[in-house]
Amino acid sequence: MNPLNHVAIIMDGNGRWGLKNKNSRNSGHKEGLKVIEKIIKETIKQKIKYLTLYAFSTENWRRPKKEIDYLFNLLENFLISKIGELDKKKIRLKIIGAKAFSKKLNKLLIAAEKKTIKNDILQINLALNYGSKLELINAFKRISNSQDEINEKNLIKYFYTKNIPDPDLLIRTGDTKRLSNFLLWQLAYSEIYFEKKLWPEFNENDYIKIIKKFKRIKRNFGKI
Ligand code: IPE
Ligand code: IPE
Ligand code: MG
Repeated sequence: MNPLNHVAIIMDGNGRWGLKNKNSRNSGHKEGLKVIEKIIKETIKQKIKYLTLYAFSTENWRRPKKEIDYLFNLLENFLISKIGELDKKKIRLKIIGAKAFSKKLNKLLIAAEKKTIKNDILQINLALNYGSKLELINAFKRISNSQDEINEKNLIKYFYTKNIPDPDLLIRTGDTKRLSNFLLWQLAYSEIYFEKKLWPEFNENDYIKIIKKFKRIKRNFGKI
């Protein structure tokens, strides 16, 4: 059985769920937040140590301002109301992506990271304003300005994901089969599951089923 140390999720389908069920994309984002809580609980139960959640991409700025504002407002409220609970559960929160938000949100994010830095039950990496191409370009720029030789071990020191092992498993909900600029380097050897359900419809049982399948896959890493 494969050990499972790190799950990454592209939580896609909120907008379509909201439109279909409540006639508004934003209500899908709100519903999606409830699923995040369920999945965090199950991740701890499964003794998985890293959970990376794609919440906002560098390309998502192309959406209407109203939707972007709604999303960041949800996030702010979530941080304010839930960070104490996450901390109590010994969850560490880490942001991956460029922290270029409002002053208030930047402060909240930095405070949440600081508050939970010593927690060791689960590390949640929240990908926010995250783009894999930007991460790679920044890493190459910084390594070129350093004394470091350009090799794999040195390059990954310049990623947002420094010190985080690569995902073993990637799940994308929402019936779409693409990576959307997510962890292009880090997913090189991950097992990938595309789930038909929209994110607000996804639940613990779907998650457990995927984990069970993952555990039985033969991972080769180039060997036979
Ligand atoms: C994913 O759901 C959440 C974010 C990108 C913030 P979408 O909002 O992309 O939902 P669909 O894909 O339009 O249904
Ligand atoms: C990927 O979903 C980003 C997040 C889930 C945060 P998108 O809905 O933005 O992806 P595309 O644009 O359909 O590829
Ligand atoms: Mg989408």
